Amino acid sequence: MTYDAQAVRALLDEILAALASAPESDETRALRERLARFTALSGAELTPALALEASAIPLGAMRVFPKEARGQVGAKANAMKQAADAALAQEKEAALALALAEERTGKGFDATLPPPLPSRGSLHPITQVTRELEDLFTSMGWTILDGPEVETEHFNFDALNISPDHPARDTMDTFWVKTAPGAERLVMRTHTSPVQVRAMKRLTPPFRAIVPGKVFRNEALDASHEHTFHQMEGLVVGKDISVGHLIGAMKTLLRGIFGRDIEIRLRPGYFPFVEPGFELDARCPFCKEGCSVCKRSTWIELLPCGMVHPNVLRAGGIDPEQWTGFAFGLGLSRLVMLRFSIDDIRHLLGGDVRFLEQF
Ligand code: PHE
Repeated sequence: MTYDAQAVRALLDEILAALASAPESDETRALRERLARFTALSGAELTPALALEASAIPLGAMRVFPKEARGQVGAKANAMKQAADAALAQEKEAALALALAEERTGKGFDATLPPPLPSRGSLHPITQVTRELEDLFTSMGWTILDGPEVETEHFNFDALNISPDHPARDTMDTFWVKTAPGAERLVMRTHTSPVQVRAMKRLTPPFRAIVPGKVFRNEALDASHEHTFHQMEGLVVGKDISVGHLIGAMKTLLRGIFGRDIEIRLRPGYFPFVEPGFELDARCPFCKEGCSVCKRSTWIELLPCGMVHPNVLRAGGIDPEQWTGFAFGLGLSRLVMLRFSIDDIRHLLGGDVRFLEQF
């Protein structure tokens, strides 16, 4: 059905005529005035868009018309609205068809323009820091090693001098993996230290290695505790390796991370797989007088470390009379948080793109 402006105009006039038989009032006058805007147009000027507007007026003011005329007025206004709607839909379709036809002529198409690029994403902050540390250590001749995330009880505990009744098995909040009765017990590794012993079994001393990776603990979650987090183990085995080597390596590590020399201190720390064992603190890189990061102490607890326990060397098939070594356990997640001022560890593996897009 094609749009007939004259016919629509006639409908409008008929609606107005119905108004003439209504008693004169402010309402009838107001209604007539509003319709006057449309009746002033010639038939051809009454476009579908205007006809749609005009049809809404009587439909919204039905009670102004005399009772007996309302049925007729409603039917006419609806006919006007339908004619306008149909015409508008046709116009829209025609415009689309025209646009498509124009696009198909190939006018304005430039085949030499590069295609739109897919958006590329970015590396996770943990990956960024891991790669930086891997570059640093490989430049000093260290090897990068990997180990299984589902680990045997032997490598995660026994070989590391953690006896069956040792409280570390509980304090580490271990996730035990269900295994068949009688089969070797498996855990989600609670630290990267089991790879120390795996490394000793695989490599011939002297050697130096780092082990970045995921570890798991069944902990109550909060801003600084997550069930899955990242560590980076370090292990050096050689002739006459001493605490001096450990300190030197840690200073180099800090220089690599923060880009300048940073003072360190060692406090005694207990881990069954090192003797002596230490907690290494670094001077807060963010302040001089104390700040929220170092909890006003100017020292940041950075990593536990120590000289490899003779029992661990033995478990790895290495003679402790001939070889010594040191090991450290860098909290990679914590370091990433320090580095990028991230205040909640749960952001790291939360998978929220709004967080990830910032790196
Ligand atoms: N594996 C220990 C932990 O996760 C850290 C550590 C590693 C301590 C190496 C000493 C030497 O708590």
